[in-house]
Order: sequence, then structure tokens, then C-alpha cells
Amino acid sequence: MMEPEIRLIDLTTGYNGEPLIRDLNIQIKGYGVVQILGPNGAGKTTLIRTILGLLTPLHGKILINGEDVTGDPSRAGKYAGYVPQITHAPGSRFPITVWEMVECCLLMREKWPRIPRRKHRELVAKILKSVGLDEAYWHKNFWELSGGQRQRGFIARALVTDPPIIVMDEPLSSIDPAGRAELARRIGEMGKNHLLIITSHDPMLLLPYTNYIIMVNKGIYVAGPPEEVLTIENTRKIYGEAAIPVMKHVHIADSHY
Ligand SMILES: Nc1ncnc2c1ncn2[C@@H]1O[C@H](COP(=O)(O)OP(=O)(O)OP(=O)(O)O)[C@@H](O)[C@H]1O
Ligand SMILES: [Mg+2]
Repeated sequence: MMEPEIRLIDLTTGYNGEPLIRDLNIQIKGYGVVQILGPNGAGKTTLIRTILGLLTPLHGKILINGEDVTGDPSRAGKYAGYVPQITHAPGSRFPITVWEMVECCLLMREKWPRIPRRKHRELVAKILKSVGLDEAYWHKNFWELSGGQRQRGFIARALVTDPPIIVMDEPLSSIDPAGRAELARRIGEMGKNHLLIITSHDPMLLLPYTNYIIMVNKGIYVAGPPEEVLTIENTRKIYGEAAIPVMKHVHIADSHY
């Protein structure tokens, strides 16, 4: 299969005619992790919703594998799975288990009648194991799970249809420190045969797997390979005084006074 490619051309996006992300020109090709960084409210979620066609940009377009998917989630959805930011999860908390959610996504691909067969059940179990979700939670109400367990459920849902691209909005944010390092490794593994677009507040965990970084903050952006982007000058430009140089490395502080 051809390596996935995303092109953002003169992309300006925001709400009510007000741009948040301006004149983005980016070309990403191949597998691995692309990180989108920036402070709260910078426009990370807005950018990935635009890439997924869920939000129509104010200007410019998005090509995935050469196909124009601008403002068209069903087209973008052929190539890309979506792991939403947990706090942005759907409003209606309809009763569903993780198992049902993942199985249902898988069956959507099948012809009517969509009856789960052994091969489906085996795949769902394999995927749920691969995201590190304990079997005890597979059949519990999704909304009664912890944030981190839900996050793993959403990752399983994105993986089950095997799209070449998976877009994840802060997949590590609700995970405890031990689980975070472990899930980061799993995500790194996924990056071997997927193009992963991931927003984060901590670039370090996924840095070993990251080929490209996009740092945004209200109208300005810096993009390129990590060693070019994660400089003190760039990080200060995006994060201000929260960017602290320690030895030769840049750290983004959790808080500053
Ligand atoms: N539907 C909307 N209508 C109008 N403004 C919105 C809407 N959604 C988000 N915004 C605004 O756009 C800005 C960027 O929001 P966005 O969710 O993209 O930020 P973010 O970088 O993902 O932040 P966080 O790190 O908190 O997730 C915020 O100021 C937010 O209030
Ligand atoms: Mg966000």
C-alpha cells in the first residue's frame, strides 16, 4: 500500500471568520509520529478537526493521499481514524460498552446483516489487548470507565478498521505516569505502520518516535523535524516564559510563577 501523505495548503482555520491557525503549508509523508504542540487554546484541536474534515477551513485545503478532503469527514474518514480529546467526548452518554463500541465500528465495514462472527470477536479482543485495556473493563458501560480507560477504548476503536492514518487528540493526558510511558511505547509501535498525528502537552514521551513537530499558537506556527523545531527560540515564541532551557535541552514547564 502507498505510504500515507497529508498536505495542508495555505490552510487558515478558526471559528466565526476569526483565524486561529494561519497560512499553514505542510507536507507530511510516510509512517511515524507527527506531534502538534501548543498551549491551551492554541488551536490544536481546531487544527486536527480541520484535517479530519469535521471543520471547514476559512481558507486553503487539505489533501490526503492526493484527494481533496477539505470539509468532508466521510472522505477524510476513509484514510484516518480519530481519537477525540476526552473532554470533548460526545455529549450524549448513550449506554454502550467498550467492546460494543469497537465491534460496532468493525461491523460497519461489513455487508448487511452485520452479525459479529468469530473472526470479528477475535480481532476486537486482540485490539483491546493491544491497547492495554484490562479484560475486566471490556463489558462495562463506557461512561463508567476512568478517563484513561476510555482513552484506550477510543484508541482501540480507531485501530480496529486499520486506517493508514490515526489522529489522536491528547491520548496521553488522562493516563497515569506509569501507564503513560507504557502507552507511549504502544503508540510508538503503532507508528511503525501508521501515520500518527498526535497533540500533546509533553513532547518528550513520544520524541523517540517523532519525525515531525508542528508547534502552534494563535496565528503563528513552526514546523519541521524535532531537532529543528524544539529550539529555545521557537519554544519561547510559542510558550513564552514556560520554555525553560535545562542543560542543552528545552523543557516546557507544567506551571510557572
Ligand atoms: N466551536 C467553537 N466555536 C468557537 N470557538 C471555539 C470553538 N471550539 C473552540 N473554540 C475556541 O478556539 C480556541 C482554540 O481551541 P482548541 O480547542 O483548538 O484549543 P487547543 O489547542 O486544543 O487547547 P487544549 O490544549 O486546551 O486542548 C479556544 O480559544 C476556544 O475557545
Ligand atoms: Mg485541544
